[in-house]
Amino acid sequence: MKTRVIYATMTRHSKKLAEAIAKNLNVGAENIKGGPILDDVDLLFLVGGIYGGQSLPALLDFVGQLDSRNVKRAALITSCASKRQGQQALRSLLEEKGIDVLGEVICQGSFLLMGFGHPNQSDVHEIVRFARSLAEEVGAIL
Ligand SMILES: Cc1cc2nc3c(=O)[nH]c(=O)nc-3n(C[C@H](O)[C@H](O)[C@H](O)COP(=O)(O)O)c2cc1C
Repeated sequence: MKTRVIYATMTRHSKKLAEAIAKNLNVGAENIKGGPILDDVDLLFLVGGIYGGQSLPALLDFVGQLDSRNVKRAALITSCASKRQGQQALRSLLEEKGIDVLGEVICQGSFLLMGFGHPNQSDVHEIVRFARSLAEEVGAIL
């Protein structure tokens, strides 16, 4: 089973989360800027923040180009200062393509003083636990 961890970031929180998940699952964390090519992926983690209520356009574009023949299922890891906003547009895009969305977890991020200091160690731990349990559920642990 092939697992990939892809992130898009403005202020590096998603990088931090993606790297922790990837390390736990024994795979690499890949920045969307590197133009990752997905082929035969069983479980795709998409890690990103929220900016003005939306996902980063680069992440939406990337998902817009995915093909369900190359990616079976996905999970969303989102961070935002409100800890309330999910990546609904990203989820809809995946679903329209027939890529199963297993779930989304929202992590406390920060913006100026809102959520200052997050994501912290305990946030990262919670996200890794979520990712690990999904990977175990679908039999994607190496
Ligand atoms: C320009 C900008 C706009 C943001 N807009 C929102 C927002 O609308 N809602 C929210 O909850 N957080 C917002 N945030 C906070 C980020 O979503 C949060 O810090 C997230 O962890 C950033 O992820 P990143 O470091 O991977 O870019 C914003 C942050 C920035 C820099």
